[in-house]
Amino acid sequence: MSLDVRSPLYDDERISLPDEIAILSKTFNGTVCSAKGDEYAIKNNVVDLMTQEKSYTLAQSTNHWKLTASVYEDIWRVRSLSLLTGELFPIEKEKELLKKWVNPQPGLTYLDVGCSTALYARSLKKNEPECRSIALDFSTAMLEEARIKAEADEADIYLIRSDAREMPFFANTMDGVVMGGTLNELSDELKVLYECRRVLKNDGVFFMMHLIFSDSWYGRVLQSSAEWSGINFWTLKQSNELFERAGFAVEDQFTKGIVCFSKLKPV
Ligand SMILES: C[S@@+](CC[C@H](N)C(=O)[O-])C[C@H]1O[C@@H](n2cnc3c(N)ncnc32)[C@H](O)[C@@H]1O
Repeated sequence: MSLDVRSPLYDDERISLPDEIAILSKTFNGTVCSAKGDEYAIKNNVVDLMTQEKSYTLAQSTNHWKLTASVYEDIWRVRSLSLLTGELFPIEKEKELLKKWVNPQPGLTYLDVGCSTALYARSLKKNEPECRSIALDFSTAMLEEARIKAEADEADIYLIRSDAREMPFFANTMDGVVMGGTLNELSDELKVLYECRRVLKNDGVFFMMHLIFSDSWYGRVLQSSAEWSGINFWTLKQSNELFERAGFAVEDQFTKGIVCFSKLKPV
């Protein structure tokens, strides 16, 4: 299934990404361009649609390091929810919830925003091999690691390097948007949420996992030090106000410790 994206330079211009880019058993190198001639590199199946480098917070910078990308999922992500909730919370349970709330369907398109190693994008594609799954991040190191993991999983996904504050997609084109832990790391969370709302279809679903304020004093101490590196936390009420401001209503939600899962619907 080929994918039409929006030129990062010319809002009305379309760039067609051939299906082969998402076939990860074959290396794809080349370029793509819009009718205006703006050209973008594809290296090892990763489509680079970033037009300029941004300034990054400390937390964001570490995600650009190869070392972080290579250990992120196997050392941290698979255990993170058990550590953060203080109870056994295997990654399989999170993937089951993702499947239940997103319910991926053949022929539909799903976008993993701030994907890191594309845990969610891979999982959706494994659940429904006939869907189209897109993983977006601004870290090349993370996308390269996502590519390795997706090929090993035999999950053919599109890997797009772009800034979530200006996503290279046309309005109302995604059937589902998913975001795992990324909200806390964004520099401009409302802008990214507006972008998610813009690209999501009116009957689409937005799966969100994020961290909320801790109510224990030691949790607050830890969170205050994380805030210094550019990680943000909100209370549940503040989080829901943020979702509402961006045009979403909470359809389902639960928290375990500081971890919050939300199923959001466009209003
Ligand atoms: C906490 S990690 C996400 C983890 C991943 N979603 C998961 O479930 O394992 C946050 C990711 O968001 C990316 N990121 C942060 N701000 C971004 C932005 N404005 N545009 C694109 N990616 C961004 C970082 O590079 C990082 O890989």
